[in-house]
Amino acid sequence: MIIFEEVSKTFDNGFQAVNKVSFQVSPGETLVLLGTSGCGKTTAMKMINRLIEPTSGQILINGKNIMDFDPIDLRRSIGYAVQHIGLFNHMTVSENIALVPKMLKWDQGKIESRIDELLTLVSLDPIEVKDRYPSELSGGQRQRIGVIRALAADPPIILMDEPFGALDPLTREAVQNEFNELKSSTELDSNIEKTVVFVTHDMFEAVKMADQIALMDQGSIVQIGTPRDLVENPANEFVEQFISGHKFQLSLMTKPIKDYVEPSDITPEQPVKVKLSTKHTIIEALDVYKNTNKSKLPVYKGKKFMGYLPIKSLYNVVIGVLEEMGEGE
Ligand SMILES: Nc1ncnc2c1ncn2[C@@H]1O[C@H](COP(=O)(O)OP(=O)(O)OP(=O)(O)O)[C@@H](O)[C@H]1O
Ligand SMILES: [Mg+2]
Repeated sequence: MIIFEEVSKTFDNGFQAVNKVSFQVSPGETLVLLGTSGCGKTTAMKMINRLIEPTSGQILINGKNIMDFDPIDLRRSIGYAVQHIGLFNHMTVSENIALVPKMLKWDQGKIESRIDELLTLVSLDPIEVKDRYPSELSGGQRQRIGVIRALAADPPIILMDEPFGALDPLTREAVQNEFNELKSSTELDSNIEKTVVFVTHDMFEAVKMADQIALMDQGSIVQIGTPRDLVENPANEFVEQFISGHKFQLSLMTKPIKDYVEPSDITPEQPVKVKLSTKHTIIEALDVYKNTNKSKLPVYKGKKFMGYLPIKSLYNVVIGVLEEMGEGE
């Protein structure tokens, strides 16, 4: 659990970059710091691993003030992926990924299998890329290595500062999905749920990655809430402005299908090849329908059958959103 209590940062030149920021991120949760360039996202994030120290307020990790940790230990226990300070160019892919596990004195066998496991998880062939240098990879491949390097030692806390920024939209979407799957993946050896703080200026990326979004402006949090909260109940004009122009798509990205499932006693014929989950949003459900010729799909909550969501109902939701937007104007 990460807690920010009225955390502020004023730099030596007198500029206040972060102003009384408070939030909590629970294990298993991703908090996204969102906002335009210069609003204080990176500064807020770097205070967590003490690359920058707060001027006032406090930051607690599992109840302990970060100032009471040894900074080196603190940094080793936190995975950190950034867009620009990328990989070490004189080290191979393997050596880059192994950096923190080596410092933590993992045995070589465990490190080797970890490298293979992580590369496979992000759809890279270990044999093909392991011994290459970063300069021998594409930008997208390099960014994947940066992300898995942050995960290598299985840290309970992961900080990501625009980690997918340099990717083209298609690769970016693929890596976002991979990360979300990886985060909830039980394949990874630890049972520790990850606490993630993720920085982006991209509203769509924020919605995709976040359990909570903290929208910042000039060092302060303007609104904090679920992606759906921000889209459906913007706290003020600033938030409204931020999402205006994308409201339709953002609504479809944040409305969960669970509100529209039609309960049924008729369980689907086994085996069920294509199904929906109560966790799906409207846009994800439309995506699932795109790849099937079915007009009605079953919806599951975990393993439990909940009912059906016919494609027609889905279209009605889309029309409903359009009508709502029309009324708002
Ligand atoms: N060392 C410093 N001394 C003085 N001002 C700084 C320092 N570092 C950052 N700033 C200023 O603090 C503000 C916030 O910077 P920060 O890097 O946190 O922004 P950001 O939200 O991450 O922006 P971007 O999206 O462009 O990365 C900016 O106005 C920046 O110029
Ligand atoms: Mg930044």
